[in-house]
Amino acid sequence: MTKQVVVLGGDGIGPEIMAEAVKVLNALALDIQLTEKLIGGAAIDAQAHPLPQDTLEAAQAADAILLGAVGGPKWDNNPMELRPEKGLLGIRKQLGLFANLRPAILYPQLASASSLKPEIVAGLDILIVRELTGGIYFGQPRGIRTNEQGEREGFNTYVYSESEIRRIGRAAFEAAQKRNKRLCSIDKSNVLEVTVLWKEVITELAKEYPEVELSHMLVDNAAMQLVRNPKQFDVLVTGNMFGDILSDEAAMLTGSIGMLPSASLNENNQGMYEPCHGSAPDIAGQGIANPLATILSAAMMLRYSLGDEASAQRIEAAVSKVLDQGLRTADIYNPQEAGTQKVGTAAMGDAVVAAL
Ligand code: NAD
Ligand code: IPM
Ligand code: MN
Repeated sequence: MTKQVVVLGGDGIGPEIMAEAVKVLNALALDIQLTEKLIGGAAIDAQAHPLPQDTLEAAQAADAILLGAVGGPKWDNNPMELRPEKGLLGIRKQLGLFANLRPAILYPQLASASSLKPEIVAGLDILIVRELTGGIYFGQPRGIRTNEQGEREGFNTYVYSESEIRRIGRAAFEAAQKRNKRLCSIDKSNVLEVTVLWKEVITELAKEYPEVELSHMLVDNAAMQLVRNPKQFDVLVTGNMFGDILSDEAAMLTGSIGMLPSASLNENNQGMYEPCHGSAPDIAGQGIANPLATILSAAMMLRYSLGDEASAQRIEAAVSKVLDQGLRTADIYNPQEAGTQKVGTAAMGDAVVAAL
């Protein structure tokens, strides 16, 4: 049966990188119907809401969703409810996409694009499992209020229930079981009660996964260890905000944030797939953004939601091949490296299609 995929380009470089991912999917000539919808700032402008009802309904009915990025300076001073980011957070929450998988893999061809020494990152292959629909991003109460001294104060609530911790923990243990069987849970249990509970629940769960070796690390140390010796990790599991920050840090180990794809899954393995980066307003409209994170997200979509491992591998092999050919967008281009050539967004997408 024809698979239904909702395509959400979004804002800034979102539509530019999405055009390349769509090119690649079309070139594979699979039985997939792509339907474009609006989200983020584009949806605010056209439909006065960052997550219009028709977008949400199409996403709920789809087999998978592919998303570019949202946000930009045009909407930065909007009230919180009318910001592009609310569209993204809304779709994650409404679809229950609690398990965000962010693999950070260094393609050997890009060893010299990483800001770390080649020997530190060579062969890097880690997976960050980030909780995506809870924690401080969604906790109530939240807001800005006037306190008894007549001063304004901003407040958010960092809260996780046991069941929320357990389901993301399961996703992480299961991922670790399929990989190198090491899981590191990241918390701030020396200060924050919510992560004392996090650590307890993850520790309890470990009994169900005897083959997986569980360790715990405080988030500040983890941030340091990721750049000191990232290959000590296999799978990391953490809450929404720590996962957001650590995954941007991990992206740089792979050469560029433009290389990091992601999958966000719910209990039914319905998923949304998006690069980890944002809408990059500083380079939007210039045709120079790296489309590979989005193209690799489309590969993850084929693997996790559309049951087409062979096509996923074809895309990944094609990406590796264009890197072998020396093609580099500006973010991964190193002028010191012989045999490489700087290309734009569309040329990179065309090259991946040619390499399929
Ligand atoms: P960003 O990820 O958009 O950009 C950070 C830096 O990385 C910029 O210098 C940018 O040019 C570069 N970069 C990002 N993606 C790239 C790519 N594919 N190729 C080459 N270079 C790339 O983060 P930011 O600047 O902090 O945020 C900009 C906007 O994006 C904000 O509105 C933010 O809320 C939004 N955002 C959205 C998402 C998302 O939609 N998932 C993620 C992060 C940020
Ligand atoms: C990401 C982004 C989002 C997040 C923002 C845009 C809401 O930074 O997907 O990493 O913080 O989750
Ligand atoms: Mn982020």
